[in-house]
Amino acid sequence: MIKPNTGRSVMLACDHGYFMGPTHRLEEPKKTIQPLVHYCDALAVTRGVLRSSVDPKWDAPIILRVSGGTSVLKEDLSDEGITTSMKDAVRLNVSAVALSIFVGSTHEKESLLNLSKLVDEGEEFGIPVMAITAVGKELEKRDARYLSLACRLAAEIGAHLVKTYYCEEFEKVVTGCPVPLVVAGGPKLKTEVDVLELAQRAVREGAIGVDMGRNIWQNDQPVAMIKAIRAIVQENATLKEAIQLFNEEKAKTKLREETAISV
Ligand code: R5P
Repeated sequence: MIKPNTGRSVMLACDHGYFMGPTHRLEEPKKTIQPLVHYCDALAVTRGVLRSSVDPKWDAPIILRVSGGTSVLKEDLSDEGITTSMKDAVRLNVSAVALSIFVGSTHEKESLLNLSKLVDEGEEFGIPVMAITAVGKELEKRDARYLSLACRLAAEIGAHLVKTYYCEEFEKVVTGCPVPLVVAGGPKLKTEVDVLELAQRAVREGAIGVDMGRNIWQNDQPVAMIKAIRAIVQENATLKEAIQLFNEEKAKTKLREETAISV
């Protein structure tokens, strides 16, 4: 999942359906994942999507989402349990399991105990656990003070990797967290430059990469987007180079589409 030569990773998050249902542009997971999977270092999905929509020939390591139990219709999204056993994760031959923790929420304790249980079980089989510092619908929680607390708790309980959000003073979050961090993208940002800037700042300030979904596959040019993000994360491309790559890829796609139409 983490490239040994760079210590970095581009993870493609496609696990939103477990509480959001057929969310925009992830209505048919296979169609969304297929063109993108070759440009990621790991793919995050649930077992239902893994079984139905991931071709065994694709070689991306799998991060299996194993928490859930609450849908987007509920005001409080923090009431999650573990939805997939470690035994099934082993059977599915995944590279890691992932669950959300909800620090400060009604179900803080249950989610933290879910994490500790998962780490105990994962250790038996050598399966790493990624904790996700979820904020539910309270997106305004995403500041350095809160995220430092949530990431540190996750690491102390034994998470091998933490997925969090980028924020102002992100270095503080990184400094206080003794295990590697990746950043989510969150809801779709206004422009491509905003997304690329987020990825660049995150890795410059200490994240080992991204675990991004909507800002890739909700973009009109998802392949161009993931390639540009990959250039930033894995090749330290500058923002200018990444934007240029995005525009070149976009132009190639347009040309292919126009050629297909004229034929
Ligand atoms: C939510 O379902 C998951 O934790 C996502 O994997 C995470 O939020 C990353 O996806 P996005 O970049 O769309 O926020």
